[in-house]
Amino acid sequence: MPIKISKHIQTKAPTLFPDADQASVYAAQQIAELIHQKQREGNQVTLGLATGNTPKKVYQELIRLHKNEGLSFQNVITFNLDEYYPIGPDNDQSYTYFMRHNLFDHIDIQQENIYIPQTNSTPQEVAKYCQAYEDKIAEYGGLDLQLLGIGRNGHIGFNEPGSSFESTTRLVNLHPLTREDAIAQFGTIDKVPHQAISIGIHTIMQAKRILLLALGERKSEIMNKALSGEISVDIPASILQTMSQVEYILDQEAAVLIQEEDRV
Ligand code: F6R
Repeated sequence: MPIKISKHIQTKAPTLFPDADQASVYAAQQIAELIHQKQREGNQVTLGLATGNTPKKVYQELIRLHKNEGLSFQNVITFNLDEYYPIGPDNDQSYTYFMRHNLFDHIDIQQENIYIPQTNSTPQEVAKYCQAYEDKIAEYGGLDLQLLGIGRNGHIGFNEPGSSFESTTRLVNLHPLTREDAIAQFGTIDKVPHQAISIGIHTIMQAKRILLLALGERKSEIMNKALSGEISVDIPASILQTMSQVEYILDQEAAVLIQEEDRV
């Protein structure tokens, strides 16, 4: 039976941008400012990172800031949200490959500070591996900032509809819509894995700051539901309505269905 929580809170208005480039640059600036701030304080910063189409331009801007404006990632620790199960890290459809190609190979992050779920554990070992991933995040004092995209079914990470708001890192079954959306990456539906390791909704909610980025018209329907609909495990991102540390960053196309009163 899905948990339904009636909405008594005022959801934060999204930050809107005319296009995907400007929204992505803004998200990258938020991340860069936090890295700078932690550097000034002499501290490390722990970032939760996403893959997929949405963050690609954010990563391009972070690379530009590194190459042209001296942004260093020496004090940065990263934890990726998820990875297909099973998949090898050298497979070019893996998120490990994606992160290397789209970000890590182009910046000065220390290799030992990069954490991405590795999916070579046997089904018997996987729960232990997931707990170790959680423990590692906790060892660093939790996530300072979590960057999120959103699936067309409202998933965050691979926390598919029905995922408990109390969930932590675990092996999950991918939703049919998620597998369908991954055809572009894998070529055919039979090549798309059925499972993944994903950090949990509880893990995400513990982050000190959360940036949810949604770009393009294909995210407009789900963004409307996630922002203004009922808070329910049926739309995992809807739980973010209750969290004051969340900022929704949308381009004009993703915001097309957002009701006037929810706009800035
Ligand atoms: C990826 C992830 C997913 C994606 C979501 C949107 O690490 O956790 O939740 O953010 O599926 O994917 P794109 O950005 O490709 O539309």
